[in-house]
Amino acid sequence: MKSTISQLSGQVGDSVVLEGWLVKKRSGGKIGFLNLRDGSGEVQGVASRAELDDASWEAIEALTQESTLRVTGTVQEDARAPSGVEIHLTAVEILDLSEEFPISPKEHGVSFLLEQRHLWLRSRRQRAALRVRNEVCQAIRDFFYERDFVLIDSPILTPAACEGTSTLFETDYFGSPAYLSQSGQLYLEPAAAAFGKVYCFGPTFRAEKSKTRRHLMEFWMVEPEVAFMDFAGVCELAEEFVAALVTRVLERCASELDALERDRTTLEAATAPFPRMTYSQAIETLQSEGMSVEWGDDFGAEEETALARQHGKPVLVTHFPAAIKAFYMEPDPDNAEQVLGVDVLAPDGYGEIIGGSQRIHDYDLLLSRIREHDLPIEAFQWYLDVRKYGTFPHSGFGMGIERFVAWVTGLRHLRETIPYPRMLNKIYP
Ligand code: 4AD
Ligand code: MG
Repeated sequence: MKSTISQLSGQVGDSVVLEGWLVKKRSGGKIGFLNLRDGSGEVQGVASRAELDDASWEAIEALTQESTLRVTGTVQEDARAPSGVEIHLTAVEILDLSEEFPISPKEHGVSFLLEQRHLWLRSRRQRAALRVRNEVCQAIRDFFYERDFVLIDSPILTPAACEGTSTLFETDYFGSPAYLSQSGQLYLEPAAAAFGKVYCFGPTFRAEKSKTRRHLMEFWMVEPEVAFMDFAGVCELAEEFVAALVTRVLERCASELDALERDRTTLEAATAPFPRMTYSQAIETLQSEGMSVEWGDDFGAEEETALARQHGKPVLVTHFPAAIKAFYMEPDPDNAEQVLGVDVLAPDGYGEIIGGSQRIHDYDLLLSRIREHDLPIEAFQWYLDVRKYGTFPHSGFGMGIERFVAWVTGLRHLRETIPYPRMLNKIYP
């Protein structure tokens, strides 16, 4: 009976057929051990010379790492195995004998591994990280679906900038410039007038000239946008969202977190509400810790790390200076120098995972902000229309999936949280 490794624990005593790849083998004398991977899991096969025909035994001797094979065997309980079972082989057939696999069990440098990303995906830690990503993506869709949000796919080719003009990837669109989307937000706001609660979830692009462990050129962002939601509402939504995703990973990705040796302390602490501070309070805190920051400075990795460290759980920073935030953020009614913007900072040094705000809904104010930011009015006419035909207060945020997954998995660098990372000057494979 054809089976998969994930099903074996329910098939003790049965004879099954598995197809997959050889992770490693140990053989010698009259007994051999094969570690087999089939995409659903990993299992050890035990081969005994006495129970196998010559062809099967010769196949075992010839097998190289990553060869594809088909095995038949009996499932047996084994308390020592991670899956609780092993398989006693009765036949082994080589489907393809792999050439020498470039990634051996020895240590490799990360630049070598990145060149081999298409093969590195097969490694245990990489599989664990990408399974967590898969769970997070599904949890995101479930979260919004259960709350009656409508998915609005925003375009990737766009005529205008959303998050500043310095990080745009430009391309040619039939003789006119077009840009790869930095955020779907501008396209969600009009859709919020059609559906009330909307979100988009897709790839976004930023030509970030910085080579840090927290920046990718291509990353996935999930962005909700809600009509008639005020700033307090969007802060609560962000908190509830992060807490729900963390809970889901803790519930469903235990073996992946184990494989990645993730300490769960800050994950288990990430229940709502999160501590909050205004930007001004954050500046005071940083200054009291001896850091040289002034009101008006943007936070870098060091500042964000310091702010989240004290609490051991995600932190909300609110009320930023208008000058360091995007053109569309609603001014703070109590202080026009500030905007109703919020960043969620993850603990453990991962920094900003969410950026959001209440949006300007007044036509004239938005127009003057677009002018102040030297943005081309023509390209934003349609966006201004939302303030012309029944305007409404609204708010939303964006979360970078890789930043979130890096935090929950404890992976230091974002590059291992996406199947094929795009980094500064690196686009292979
Ligand atoms: O703070 P950002 O720039 O906000 C926006 O783009 C808004 N338009 C979102 C919205 O309100 N709908 O980016 C949002 C998030 C950041 O908090 C971070 O998690 C992630 O996107 N991010 C990046 N992730 C990886 N690599 C980069 N270069 C990133 N830049 C931003
Ligand atoms: Mg931001």
